[in-house]
Amino acid sequence: MPSFQSLPGFREFYPEAFARRHHIFRLWRKAAYAYGFQEYDAPVLEPLDLYRAKSGEEVEAQLFSFTDKGDREVALRPEMTPTVCRMVGARAGSLKRPIKWFSIAEFYRYERAQRGRERAFFQFNADVFGESGPEAEIELIALLVQCLAGFGLTAEDFSIRLSDRDLWFFYLEALGFTEIQARSLLSAIDKFEKIGDDAFEGYTTQHGELAPALKAKILEFLQVKSLVQMEAALAPFGSDKLAKRLNDWRQVLDGLAAMGLAPFVEVDLGVVRGLAYYTGFVFEAFDRKGDLRALAGGGRYNDLVKKLGGPDLPAVGFAIGDVTTGLLLEQRGLMPALVKFADVYAVIGGKAERTAAFADIRALRAAGWRVDYAFKDLAFGKQFKAANESGARIALIYGGDELARGVVKVRDLTARQEHDVPREQIVAAVRDFLAHG
Ligand code: HAM
Repeated sequence: MPSFQSLPGFREFYPEAFARRHHIFRLWRKAAYAYGFQEYDAPVLEPLDLYRAKSGEEVEAQLFSFTDKGDREVALRPEMTPTVCRMVGARAGSLKRPIKWFSIAEFYRYERAQRGRERAFFQFNADVFGESGPEAEIELIALLVQCLAGFGLTAEDFSIRLSDRDLWFFYLEALGFTEIQARSLLSAIDKFEKIGDDAFEGYTTQHGELAPALKAKILEFLQVKSLVQMEAALAPFGSDKLAKRLNDWRQVLDGLAAMGLAPFVEVDLGVVRGLAYYTGFVFEAFDRKGDLRALAGGGRYNDLVKKLGGPDLPAVGFAIGDVTTGLLLEQRGLMPALVKFADVYAVIGGKAERTAAFADIRALRAAGWRVDYAFKDLAFGKQFKAANESGARIALIYGGDELARGVVKVRDLTARQEHDVPREQIVAAVRDFLAHG
């Protein structure tokens, strides 16, 4: 017997689940528009090479890839960043800067089954191209806060951990590591929070045992949780480059504080990000209770547009996922429960009344209201039950008695009050009620 079940990690969205997804997307899109970002979209299937050596080992190992009928090696997109870099790179000359773009799209990664991770999931991606200063980070981190705060989540529910790969390279090189060693150490640091000391195994295999004194220095830097601690840890290595970098840090933190967002942002050098292309500030959003996987992640990637054949264009961005966001909203009771699909429900007495009702239903729908009614003649009680279940705020009652008088009975389903409205005024009456009622 063949199995007709959906594949593991690929979700079906029944209407209630779809309504929850729509709720999330709607508020993300609203946030992006409020911040002046423009929406774009891109192909689901891409040349495999777009991700090879660009996204990093972890994502590369998780690709859904195959050879198509034209013998091309292709992959379902695991993320948007390489694609958006190619798109922006191809038109960089004609796009007004800063380029602020966003998208909401589905991505595919062959992940191990676990809570908060699927094999097909949605991300909201927001990226700024053409701005090398920390103004872009301020804009994006503020937008990320809004992508969660828009649902009613507060600084007690989530935080954004801000870190810096530039600073890590500076520190590790000051300790005497080469760039290649520093890269390998950063991937160890990325895993350290999850697996502890085992994270350094890869480094040891490649570069030999790590001197205990140096390891201690690294673990110390990993603990940095504020700008003051950062300055103290770096004081022995003072240089112009470092001073400039610390100034960038101050600018980001001051900018976010001026927007009233300081309570959402934490300095945490333990975040270094697994993806290969990040070059500067990096950040991740987590729930404060810490029982969910990351809500969002991002950072600066100044070399990627050029690596993909475009001009030298600085870039920074982030992606927030629908799965962990949805879980957090449910945990906090912030996911609306009722699936409303109607504003108005027409309760129809019988065959003769149906003709009159149909004319009004069409007019109301044309005016933009969501109107529903029973396909078959049913008892009034059943129709009112359906009206309540539809989420409608008013029922229009088409009874023989009302129609004889040229009126419709309008019933407020919440206040349980009703009054008659002349039929020719029904569209205006519904509009007045739903706008002000
Ligand atoms: P990422 O950290 O790989 O970054 O993914 C960002 C977010 O997507 C995660 O924090 C998580 O919410 C969600 N996500 C990732 N994988 C899964 C999965 N298997 N199931 C459910 N949700 C998932 C990136 O993708 C970067 N391209 C972000 C970026 C944009 N950087 C710059 N611009």
